[in-house]
Amino acid sequence: LARGVTEPDLAGRHVVVSAGGTREPLDPVRYLGNRSSGKQGYALARTAAARGARVTLIEANTGIPDPAGVDVVHVGTAVQLREAVLKAAADADAVVMAAAVADFRPATYAEGKIKKKEGEEPAPVALVRNPDILAEISADRPRPDQVVVGFAAETDDVLAHGRDKLRRKGCDLLVVNEVGERKTFGSEENEAVILGSDGTETHVPHGPKEALADTLWDLIAPRLV
Ligand code: CTP
Ligand code: CA
Repeated sequence: LARGVTEPDLAGRHVVVSAGGTREPLDPVRYLGNRSSGKQGYALARTAAARGARVTLIEANTGIPDPAGVDVVHVGTAVQLREAVLKAAADADAVVMAAAVADFRPATYAEGKIKKKEGEEPAPVALVRNPDILAEISADRPRPDQVVVGFAAETDDVLAHGRDKLRRKGCDLLVVNEVGERKTFGSEENEAVILGSDGTETHVPHGPKEALADTLWDLIAPRLV
């Protein structure tokens, strides 16, 4: 798709995008969180809407205003995100998991604020695993022809980690970002390699998150049946 020209190539399609980062509460005032800004997920939602799709955006803790023409569902935790994604995915043509889902959550939630005690060291925080939403949807697609896409931020041998993750998750495409200083988190720009389960590798040069989003829809569109 030529940039700047918006063809409604996703018209009649329903796409689900998750964005942001989950927060896992410890008590009424504290949580475990991550640095995902949600900007890439919002860029995906906006570009899909511009290409004619009906878009459900499942948003976790971004603080970004709802984009026009997009159905937005606001969630906080990984468990809430899972519920909202599974519900929206039931009739979706594509599911794109751009959200950073906390791998673990505190094993217990303190109804009252946790207080420190005079002369006492803090108690360790026990964690339990959160559900893996991407792996679950990939393995058990509500529609057999549904296209499922994941994101991964990696360091070190980025492509090897990406290939391995694509296989483990069972999704169709995995967008792999290299994490580093000034890269990815909170930035307006992104650079990535999009790995396909069919062995394809699409390098997306450093540029606006909208450009990466459009390239991803370019790869998703022909996979839709
Ligand atoms: N994801 C998910 N549910 C989780 C964790 C991750 O759906 N509990 C999704 C993310 O939205 C992302 C993809 O899986 O699209 C990859 O996330 P990542 O954290 O890189 O994968 P993990 O399997 O958690 O691997 P790691 O141990 O490297 O964090
Ligand atoms: Ca993880």
